[in-house]
Amino acid sequence: MMPSLASLGPALLLWLLTACLGAHAAIQAENDYNIRKIPLRSQSFQAPYLDSDMQSRYFEFGEDTIVRADQYIRLTSDRQGQMGWLFARMPMTANNWQVEVEFKIHGQGHLHGDGMAIWLTEERAQAGKVFGSRDNFNGLGVFVDTYKNQRPGTVFPYVMAMMGNSSVSYDKDHDGKENEIAGCSARGIRGDEDPPTKKIRLTYYQETSLKVELQYKKDSPDEWTECFETGPLKLPQTAYLGFSAETGELSDNHDLISVTSHNLHVRSPPNTGADKSKDGKPAQAPKVQSKPYNPGGDKERGSWRWFFLKIVLFGIVCVGGYVGWTMYRASRRSRF
Ligand SMILES: *[C@@H]1O[C@H](CO)[C@@H](O)[C@H](O)[C@H]1NC(C)=O
Repeated sequence: MMPSLASLGPALLLWLLTACLGAHAAIQAENDYNIRKIPLRSQSFQAPYLDSDMQSRYFEFGEDTIVRADQYIRLTSDRQGQMGWLFARMPMTANNWQVEVEFKIHGQGHLHGDGMAIWLTEERAQAGKVFGSRDNFNGLGVFVDTYKNQRPGTVFPYVMAMMGNSSVSYDKDHDGKENEIAGCSARGIRGDEDPPTKKIRLTYYQETSLKVELQYKKDSPDEWTECFETGPLKLPQTAYLGFSAETGELSDNHDLISVTSHNLHVRSPPNTGADKSKDGKPAQAPKVQSKPYNPGGDKERGSWRWFFLKIVLFGIVCVGGYVGWTMYRASRRSRF
């Protein structure tokens, strides 16, 4: 009886130590939210854009938009008074998503305009006066505005975001100043100097933020430069991804090269063991309900839970250690 108790003490300690290390690893994993990027085919396109019937299964385009199958989708040509659009046929189903757009805005002469827009709106496929798409939209518009009408003190091209609610109009006379949620200047985002194509990336988390990043700088062509990050934005229940552009007296070719979209699936923390992808429902971003913008909020809550678990584990280690040590000592004493 006694020899087995003697070996039990150290074994128990070893077991507790292992459990403790395991818990620590889980804490690390929880704090480092695991985001899986799942391609969204219905929200992406690349050359040659069209299938064998000269159709696009997932996208529809109109007005002056032309498709050059081996090179680009041209929303407007370098001519006056053009407008063009391209919209997804199916709504964006992901709650959290990333859309990366490769494009090229270029033209002859010295003055260029007017710019391009990326949409996530309830409306789709309607031409209008906001960079070639309709005004009084419901949803998000991100504008790459290449011509300054009247906005003193702002360097153009200018990239900005606007949220529409169907009743508010785009403040065209002041390049959207009235509507701006956030924006940044991006000198060099148009033109065909290096890099030959530019990129814009929208990263949206339903509960927390929209981030817009750009890739356009000559010195660092592969680097993402953050343009802005907003607080939580509420998109319409049904929102379509779209693109549009417009020229006026001034003109440019507005070319889309490719669009790559992903569902950002936020995996459940490992300790819950419930991966929501199994029931086909995309997991939510960290839930911070009815609270202001707080990207670290859920992590904090998670670490509190772990904090208490750690205290409990620590208690078990102490008690277990004490019991083990007492038994070990008792067995040694009885031997001598
Ligand atoms: C729409 O937004 C504008 C500007 O933010 C606001 O004044 C207006 O009340 C809003 N309308 C609705 C119906 O929410």
